[in-house]
Amino acid sequence: MDVYKTVLNPLIDEVLAGYNCTVFAYGQTGTGKTFTMEGERTNDPAIPWDADPLSGLIPRSLSHLFDELRRLQAEFTVRVSYLEMYNEELIDLLSTSNDPSKIKLYEDPLKKGSVIVSGLEEVTVHTKNEIYNIMEKGSMKRQTASTLMNAQSSRSHTVFSITVHIKENSMDGEELLKTGKLNLVDLAGSENIGRSGAENKRAREAGNINQSLLTLGRVITSLVERTPHIPYRESKLTRLLQESLGGRTKTSIIATVSPAAINLEETLSTLEYAHRARNITNRPEINQKLSKKTLIKVGKWANAYIVFFLAY
Ligand SMILES: Nc1ncnc2c1ncn2[C@@H]1O[C@H](COP(=O)(O)OP(=O)(O)O)[C@@H](O)[C@H]1O
Ligand SMILES: [Mg+2]
Repeated sequence: MDVYKTVLNPLIDEVLAGYNCTVFAYGQTGTGKTFTMEGERTNDPAIPWDADPLSGLIPRSLSHLFDELRRLQAEFTVRVSYLEMYNEELIDLLSTSNDPSKIKLYEDPLKKGSVIVSGLEEVTVHTKNEIYNIMEKGSMKRQTASTLMNAQSSRSHTVFSITVHIKENSMDGEELLKTGKLNLVDLAGSENIGRSGAENKRAREAGNINQSLLTLGRVITSLVERTPHIPYRESKLTRLLQESLGGRTKTSIIATVSPAAINLEETLSTLEYAHRARNITNRPEINQKLSKKTLIKVGKWANAYIVFFLAY
């Protein structure tokens, strides 16, 4: 709840205002990334989301969003998707199909630097009560996807995305459409990456190259050092989350660390990584547009202006 209040609480208003927000969980395997994002559930439906000590950031933020949307009394839709990346392959955790070739990433022709994921299942959530079932479905698929479950979960990344569309009617009868998005990212275990930011020798020897985690580190370094080329395109994770890294998104990193002395090296490395990422500057922008009616009106004015200009 403390983590929720500090990191997520301020982002809910931003999402409702039409911003894109991303929160990463980064740290050594076993330090609580998945617990932070998904959490567990106190088996008592009478306990609300903001009082359940075991609830994670995903169910809390969805519940909170629903509370706020009801309060705003605006028209809205809430959609979620749940994507896993393992060995540069994309797995749709909410789809019943197991065909990874169905999902494709391509650049948004209308918005530079933005990537569209096609073929990804988007589930509409109507009430808070559906959240746990959807999350459970995703987690079950994540676990049954491989017999090497532990090995896979420490080496895979998951991205849970919540998209909120809001239609607001203003006083003068115009409609304002806002789209906010929240990405909650559970990254692969940081022990796969050495302190220098290169692939850990042991991991490399085991043939476990984690292209996405390596590239994420390189992208962060390039952004901090302001090099002209940022290697977004070198991994699926950084392509997908390009907007969250030095782009138009509000981004946070939660560093999870172990209190054990034996993990000191890894803990220092995690803190160093998160500290470095703090130096990145993003330029958040709101996604909103006025309804057609208004656009036509603006269009007429633009024409009038051109006519005036020609006459002049
Ligand atoms: N804050 C916490 N309170 C209670 N249990 C926790 C907490 N953080 C992690 N755990 C437990 O520790 C174990 C490892 O956490 P997990 O989230 O799976 O780590 P990671 O995803 O980073 O590998 C799990 O059994 C989890 O339930
Ligand atoms: Mg985990």
